[in-house]
Amino acid sequence: MSQTQRPLLCALRGELTARAPFWFMRQAGRYLPEYRAVRAQAPDFVRFCLDPVRAAEVTLQPIRRFGMDGAILFADILLIPHALGVDLAFREGEGPVLDPVTDAAGIARIAAAVPASAARLDPVYETVARVRAALPDETTLIGFAGSPWTVASYMVEGRGGHDFLAVRRMALAQPMLFQAMIDVLVAATIDYLDRQIAAGADAIQLFDSWSGVLCASEFARWCIAPTHAIVSALRRRHPHVPVIGFARGGGTGLPRYAAETGIDAIGLDSSVAPTWAAAALPTTQCLQGNLDPLLLGIGGTAMTDAAAEILAAWRARPFVFNLGHGITPDVPVAHVEQLCAMLRSWRRADAS
Ligand code: CP3
Repeated sequence: MSQTQRPLLCALRGELTARAPFWFMRQAGRYLPEYRAVRAQAPDFVRFCLDPVRAAEVTLQPIRRFGMDGAILFADILLIPHALGVDLAFREGEGPVLDPVTDAAGIARIAAAVPASAARLDPVYETVARVRAALPDETTLIGFAGSPWTVASYMVEGRGGHDFLAVRRMALAQPMLFQAMIDVLVAATIDYLDRQIAAGADAIQLFDSWSGVLCASEFARWCIAPTHAIVSALRRRHPHVPVIGFARGGGTGLPRYAAETGIDAIGLDSSVAPTWAAAALPTTQCLQGNLDPLLLGIGGTAMTDAAAEILAAWRARPFVFNLGHGITPDVPVAHVEQLCAMLRSWRRADAS
């Protein structure tokens, strides 16, 4: 089968597919017993991400069970700081902890590490190649990275914060210094994604999970501009590989983000009304989202009614069905099955 018959890839390129192609953020994860079994064998999360056999296995698990149209590479956005020499650990119940980078000397250290950083992530590209070889032809393989702002926020804060005061202060009070950090991340991210594509990724998603904490002008500077830099570099090297931009919490900044970054598809969080997105975002651009992951936990008609609302709002547009954020560990497998069955039976022709 040729690439053009991958429904998810077709939708990302702006085609009106007959079916509703779907995948779910964090579809490989702790809600799956088979994931927990592999995870139990791999207590160190960074090493787990850099173990191509295990990482490929957990990437494939949700595809085997549910047959999504897209597989997302199992890795983490914090592998870039790791490759740049930043100490990183994932602690049980606490999430990621990093050695903070907050001054010129720290930024000079990570800048010096850029040329060697892509090769430090060689195991990730091996995972990509293994997954692509094992996937059904019709399934799209999505590679990813964090967007520079979101990755920088973990590097400056040293952990996932709630208010992100340290990184927001640095961006506002020392913009030249902060720009140097963003530039390092842009360069490292381009090389990393270039290698994922060379290894077999069909599409790329940029996760800007924390773009919602920025004010409007800062959103343009630290989310839109670096995303544009990454998308244009990738486009020059790989003109046919679509890029999905997921600026979570982008709100009223999303039309500008859609128009100015060069992304092919726009990932939407659950705060965005599906009808607003259909009217306000460029009609050539694929929409992706945006069922509230809490509803996947609740299931039943609360879940299926909300999914039907998204399908109805987007029936005249290219779209990929997804959640508005990642699946949480408490989600029952049966609810995921029910949602997949509903999506599989939907046809655009019946939807008008
Ligand atoms: O199925 C998939 O989506 C594939 C792989 C994937 C992971 N992380 C695996 C993972 C992806 C795409 C990510 C992206 C990621 N990582 C983001 C952006 C998306 C988002 O959620 O906003 C962010 C912010 C991170 C950083 C990160 N990684 C945090 C904050 C945590 C701890 C959260 C938690 O739930 O414990 C992680 C760990 C992580 N990354 C897990 C998984 C499956 C859970 C780890 C475990 O098994 O213990």
